[in-house]
Amino acid sequence: IDAAGRRVFNLHAQRGSRDFGIEGTTRTMGFNGDYLGPTLRARRGERVRVNVVNNLRQETSVHWHGMHLPANCDGGPHQPVRPGATWSPAWTIDQPAATLWYHPHPHGHTREHVNQGLAGLFILDDDESAQRVLPHDYGVDDIPLIVQDKALHKGEIRDHDTGDLLLVNGTYGPYLDVRTDRVRLRLLNASVSRTFAFGLADERPVQLVATDGGLLPEPVTVTRIRLSPGERAELVVPFQAGERVVLRSFPPATSGSFDGGKDRFDVLELRAAARLRHVGTVPKVLADVPRLDPATAAVNRDFRLNGTNINGDKMDLDRIDTVVEKGTTEIWTVRNTDGQRHNFHVHDVQFQVLSVDGGEPPAELGGWKDTVFLPPKSELRIILRFADYADPDMPYMYHCHLLMHEDNGMMGQFVVV
Ligand code: C2O
Ligand code: CU
Ligand code: CU
Repeated sequence: IDAAGRRVFNLHAQRGSRDFGIEGTTRTMGFNGDYLGPTLRARRGERVRVNVVNNLRQETSVHWHGMHLPANCDGGPHQPVRPGATWSPAWTIDQPAATLWYHPHPHGHTREHVNQGLAGLFILDDDESAQRVLPHDYGVDDIPLIVQDKALHKGEIRDHDTGDLLLVNGTYGPYLDVRTDRVRLRLLNASVSRTFAFGLADERPVQLVATDGGLLPEPVTVTRIRLSPGERAELVVPFQAGERVVLRSFPPATSGSFDGGKDRFDVLELRAAARLRHVGTVPKVLADVPRLDPATAAVNRDFRLNGTNINGDKMDLDRIDTVVEKGTTEIWTVRNTDGQRHNFHVHDVQFQVLSVDGGEPPAELGGWKDTVFLPPKSELRIILRFADYADPDMPYMYHCHLLMHEDNGMMGQFVVV
């Protein structure tokens, strides 16, 4: 805590090396270490400051994915941090408890930096009563899982779109000793382009309690949950004493796959102890998620995703694509007119999904989202409210979070005025 009462974090982007236990020692990047970065954590209402120190040889930036904050703190391509420099954004946490994350966002080089290991979680807490009932003992029954497919070769992480081995929190072939009868898994797909469908090998039902921007209104029972790059989900998994079960990822049931090669992975082996402590019965009501009312939307916009373009254009740092007015609610129709998969991520706001291909969205999409999957030839309508922050001179981004698409220009800029 600094003199101004802010919680201060320090992140040093640096080069390193790690032996993942496969393919020998590999050159990597990480924050404050060799691979990935520390989990940052703050409460709603808290003021925070992060000192981002760039100890790399290239320019980078650090973006707070899912965070509601002023545009000049966003960490996108307009806030580059030069080698040797420090960037220190400060803002107030003002959104529900959620599993957010941070990662570099330098113009045209996001894939390289994320793929080399620059990413970490930013967990937000609040006083919702469900948070005290759900498993919340970090590292014991509340487990972060940063899932990435990787291509390792001759001491390097290859700059590939997909890889045929899986790292979880930077560990190859991990297991977890389970000591409680329920465990909360905070899953982040931090892959470059692969979309996963996570589920237990025995197809046991689990409870989905939260998505990108926080708790769902009520738990949703699922056997699989699909996450495209950048999306998060929190699952509560029940256990029997003494059992072993594997969390797997399966190929998502959609076309447009370029996730060639291996497409099924063991994510984590869960080894339940002979006696389990009882924790965290999932409440029937999790959080109040007020529905944004389409009747209050002042503006409708269309975004067409095709190739690596949005509405036929590629990202131009000097072009503002969209101007929105502070305090307004908008409906965005996002169409994937392509034969390949995309997703859509919006900075600054958490939005709600109004429809999927013209119909009611599934219950999994009933909460706050900042990133949504668009299978080939699909259409989503989302509703967004732009509150609190305006800056006519500094844009936020929206983009496909498949990082080679993003780097190839599948991104646009909006300002809030
Ligand atoms: Cu996670 Cu603009 O990104
Ligand atoms: Cu983001
Ligand atoms: Cu894309």
